[in-house]
Amino acid sequence: DRSIKIAPSILSADFANFSAEIQAIEAQGADWVHIDVMDGHFVPNLTFGPPAVKAFRPHVKTVMDVHLMITPVDPYIQAYADAGADILTAHVEAGAHTHRTLQAIRAAGMKAGVALNPGTPAYAVEHLLDLTDLVCVMTVNPGFGGQKFIDMTNKIRKLRSMIGDRPIHIEIDGGVDPKTAPLVAAAGADVLVAGSAVFKGGSVDNPEVYGANIKAV
Ligand code: DX5
Ligand code: ZN
Repeated sequence: DRSIKIAPSILSADFANFSAEIQAIEAQGADWVHIDVMDGHFVPNLTFGPPAVKAFRPHVKTVMDVHLMITPVDPYIQAYADAGADILTAHVEAGAHTHRTLQAIRAAGMKAGVALNPGTPAYAVEHLLDLTDLVCVMTVNPGFGGQKFIDMTNKIRKLRSMIGDRPIHIEIDGGVDPKTAPLVAAAGADVLVAGSAVFKGGSVDNPEVYGANIKAV
């Protein structure tokens, strides 16, 4: 269905308290949980890998949406399937064979996502759409939470028309807040990742703040 989903990014959560943070955002209305995997190579930051994602699994009751900002991707696909990822998203810029990567993600039993950096045009995924369940449009240069939103509404509109009536999500990642969310939703996005906008001002001791932030987005 095409109702808007909010996927808080735990990149902005308390890293020493992931289980309670995940529980809090889900109790407060998160539709999916977005997990940013960074390798210090494809992006200039490091987060966590398959063992951590596997440890998150029993705490995520909704959908575990894993965003790989790593290269290479293919040697790790099975590890993320074993860790329990529901959706595994790879960047189209991460290698020469995204077509093969998306096939392998589906063959491993997950939904396949493909992400585009801000500088990458919509047509980079045109011939991948039949292998894709989700297109992630980056509205920041990936690597860090809390960056300024880059307007990609033209790209989102182009993707929506390229997708036609195929059941493919358009996810927006980066700088989503109460001001930018309506712009991307109007352009055709249906999954909104939000890190700092959801976690700011809150904690597991006052989870209502997360709820208010999720509603505001
Ligand atoms: C950026 C990550 C995002 C990030 C978004 O590289 O992919 O998911 O957590 O954070 P905000 O919402 O703070 O821009
Ligand atoms: Zn992300």
